[in-house]
Amino acid sequence: MDKAVRASDTPIGIDVEAGKHYFWCSCGRSAKQPFCDGSHAGTSFAPLKYTATETRKVFFCGCKATAKSPLCDGSHSR
Ligand code: FES
Ligand code: FES
Repeated sequence: MDKAVRASDTPIGIDVEAGKHYFWCSCGRSAKQPFCDGSHAGTSFAPLKYTATETRKVFFCGCKATAKSPLCDGSHSR
């Protein structure tokens, strides 16, 4: 099993739009954090689809250790 790369030590705030889909990078290899850019190819990782229910700012996990993916649950500071 591959290990996720810690892409960031902090969450990444993004203004999302209700009804839009976002593809969170679970592997940490994307250059377009927090979103997938296809760099997971050849690993056991796949992007995770997130559908915004509201237009607001959400904090996506950048450390890839969250238990509430794709959103930050505070695990980056533990
Ligand atoms: Fe990953 Fe907060 S950035 S849990
Ligand atoms: Fe990380 Fe696609 S680049 S899941």
